[in-house]
Amino acid sequence: MKAIIVTNQSAGTAGMTLVERPKPQAAINDVVVQVHASGFVPTELEWPSTWTDRRDQARTPSIPGHELAGVVTALGYGTTGLSVGQRVFGLADWYRDGTLAEYIAMEARNLAPLPGDVDFTVGASLPISGLTAWQGLFQHGRLQAGQSVLAHGAAGAVGSMVTQLAREAGAYVIGTGRAADRQKALDFGANEFIDLENDALEDVGGVDLVFDVIGGDIQKRSAALIRAGGTLVTVVGPAEARPADGLAVDFVVESDRAQRSEIVQRVRDGRLRTNIGKVSALDEAVATFNASERHTGKTVIRVRP
Ligand SMILES: NC(=O)c1ccc[n+]([C@@H]2O[C@H](COP(=O)([O-])OP(=O)(O)OC[C@H]3O[C@@H](n4cnc5c(N)ncnc54)[C@H](OP(=O)(O)O)[C@@H]3O)[C@@H](O)[C@H]2O)c1
Repeated sequence: MKAIIVTNQSAGTAGMTLVERPKPQAAINDVVVQVHASGFVPTELEWPSTWTDRRDQARTPSIPGHELAGVVTALGYGTTGLSVGQRVFGLADWYRDGTLAEYIAMEARNLAPLPGDVDFTVGASLPISGLTAWQGLFQHGRLQAGQSVLAHGAAGAVGSMVTQLAREAGAYVIGTGRAADRQKALDFGANEFIDLENDALEDVGGVDLVFDVIGGDIQKRSAALIRAGGTLVTVVGPAEARPADGLAVDFVVESDRAQRSEIVQRVRDGRLRTNIGKVSALDEAVATFNASERHTGKTVIRVRP
């Protein structure tokens, strides 16, 4: 099968190569999925799990990509709940070969059925950004109707989901980002927008929840805006800042079948709009990841036309 591999961490996306690899076999509780569309997060090449296994032994060459939509082609021993020919989408294990390939073997529990009226490209765009937003807002941030949310990077893949889900839950959303992203963030439902390059973040006043996808100084200044009892959730490494009288939570998104179904249902009935940027074929994926122009939204690789 065709797959993209990485062997050298310091090379970044320039070190990606498209090669022939053996088709994977289904282990216990696995399924093999023929990948139709794959999602890739550029920072994956900085994650330790891309390079080493759970015992910290090198696992290169590894296949990156952790989001997918496709069709089940084989079941491993003891696998229940899915069948051959079924359309699925999901989040692949951080420590196993990923989704930038024609086939992947992965645990069935990391997949959910993809309804027939949801395109594979849309399905592959949802797992990381949708689940991250859901878990940050509702599990870790315990968001309540009437609260205010500072949604950083509101025109980005995660931030656009945060903005929409928080608005649907009855929150007031202040989106942030670059000047060029103002209209996009407002279109995703932000009540107002702070241009981090030109506006004063401190003018926001107090908020109940900060959803951080940027880190550093922006995270520290945001933590200072959190009202008593509020929460800072961050997905960009250990929280460096803490609210004076609240909670800081840093987390890595987890696979959750029920939450995945909630998200795809919202996409089907129009409550949630996915934020797909560039769509490329597998043969063009390496060039797409290395392009110098700015891509906004989620890059999806269409593995099968
Ligand atoms: N822990 C987890 O489970 C988890 C899950 C998902 C994502 N993440 C992480 O979260 C981060 C965001 O992911 P994503 O997929 O949403 O990325 P994305 O689509 O690139 O969105 C990030 C947005 O924030 C903007 N931004 C970044 N730095 C900024 C700054 N200093 N000032 C103004 N705007 C800024 C970006 O603009 P530009 O494109 O112009 O920079 C972009 O619009 C990544 O670091 C990713 O690794 C972690």
